[in-house]
Amino acid sequence: MPRAANRVSGKVYIETQGCQMNEYDAGRMADVLSKQAAMRRVYEPEEADLLLLNTCSVREKAQEKVFSRLGRWRTYKQRSPGVIIGVCGCVASQEGDAILKRAPYVDLVVGPQTYHRLPSMVAAVRAGAGAQVDISFPEIEKFDSLPEPKVQGPTAYVSVMEGCSKYCSFCVVPYTRGDEISRPFADVLAEVKGLAERGVREVTLLGQNVNAYAGPMGDGGSADLGLLIEAVAAVDGIGRVRFTTSHPVEFNDDLIEAYRDVPELADFLHLPVQSGSDMVLKLMKRGHSVAEYEELIERVRQARPGIALATDFIVGFPGEGEREFAETLELVDRIGFEAGAFSFAYSARPGTPAAELTDPTPRAEKSARLQRLQNRLEWHRERAARGLIGTTQRILVEGASRRNAHELSGRTSCNRVVNFPGDIKLQGQFVNVQIEDARSHSLRGKVVATEFEGKSKTSFVVTDG
Ligand code: SAM
Ligand code: F3S
Repeated sequence: MPRAANRVSGKVYIETQGCQMNEYDAGRMADVLSKQAAMRRVYEPEEADLLLLNTCSVREKAQEKVFSRLGRWRTYKQRSPGVIIGVCGCVASQEGDAILKRAPYVDLVVGPQTYHRLPSMVAAVRAGAGAQVDISFPEIEKFDSLPEPKVQGPTAYVSVMEGCSKYCSFCVVPYTRGDEISRPFADVLAEVKGLAERGVREVTLLGQNVNAYAGPMGDGGSADLGLLIEAVAAVDGIGRVRFTTSHPVEFNDDLIEAYRDVPELADFLHLPVQSGSDMVLKLMKRGHSVAEYEELIERVRQARPGIALATDFIVGFPGEGEREFAETLELVDRIGFEAGAFSFAYSARPGTPAAELTDPTPRAEKSARLQRLQNRLEWHRERAARGLIGTTQRILVEGASRRNAHELSGRTSCNRVVNFPGDIKLQGQFVNVQIEDARSHSLRGKVVATEFEGKSKTSFVVTDG
């Protein structure tokens, strides 16, 4: 459909559930609707004439919320019949047409790989063509169709690959987002350069399984994540690079070398392990043992001493007894996971192999284990936070602090939020902050050196003791 036909105008409200990938997708949906359909993003659903729910189906709870939220939105439509309601993301991908059967007032069902088509789909609904469903997986077409991402502050996400081909036995992602597919190396670099020219200093390379990145290169070869990190770090203006989420399999030597050789790569690694029991890892089809995971961590620590580690755990997976759970607690104590962890009670997802396993552990027992695990993780995280008191950390000033508009906020290389007094003119600069206090979810400190404007990334002016 020609672009002019898509110019529908109006206001769009997007609500997002789930992972960073979904947050990123929501921003891109707003970008494409603004550019091609002259729609402005609003943050109150009552104001909007297009309501989009960007859904997550990784766990049962999120999926349950979808229809209750849609029910609420139906009342807006009853009041203003021109309102269009759309379901995007992984629930859309998984349920497809079935959403229209259960909620016939829904006008759009759009999967994670086709949201660039939203402008033409909205135009079709407005033209009276009825409900539109598109949950196909057209290879990489999405990125060629999306406009340049909007820049909001000095940090940005850059999606480098899509989908997942790991098929862990518990996970719906390979079914909802499709198999792994990487964006070309040159396209990613061009996007990063564009972001840097507009003031971005830190990029997070994003992918469901980001270290499976294999970006086609001009010479017919392909680039892995290590090479991509090196190239992104060399872009003028970029002072810090992160990536998420990685998988222990395919964590190759190039990536470990990037920790050794690329100072812009943050002192942080989020590497999901899911369980400390070999038996459970096998049932999960993770493709590695506990010892292999620990060896990998050891090699990363040798390449980057002091790196902060984060992970994901699933508690109460079928087959996990008290002994296997105890092995998970022991792994936490051995590794420490100073940067914390996301931990979840296992939730059987229809269509995944694990959903067929018998699961005798009562829900209350899973909740109790989850609580024990979270207490242990929190103990390590707080201990590590206290260990930062007295150290000097390099912080990218992201903006005013959320709690106190007179203070600034940013993150350490190891991904801790730090609040400190300072002038908002420092936004977008790296500053050295001496840490003075550790609170439950943030650190406090004072600026001791600021980046010397106009000089290289590493020049600092000492301002205080
Ligand atoms: N790519 C990542 C990896 O290497 O494992 C994970 C992406 S997944 C969308 C995010 C996290 O959700 C997983 O690490 C896992 O801990 C959790 N998760 C996935 N499926 C789950 C399920 N059925 N029940 C509970 N938690 C689940
Ligand atoms: Fe899910 Fe495993 Fe991929 S957790 S996203 S299938 S690496």
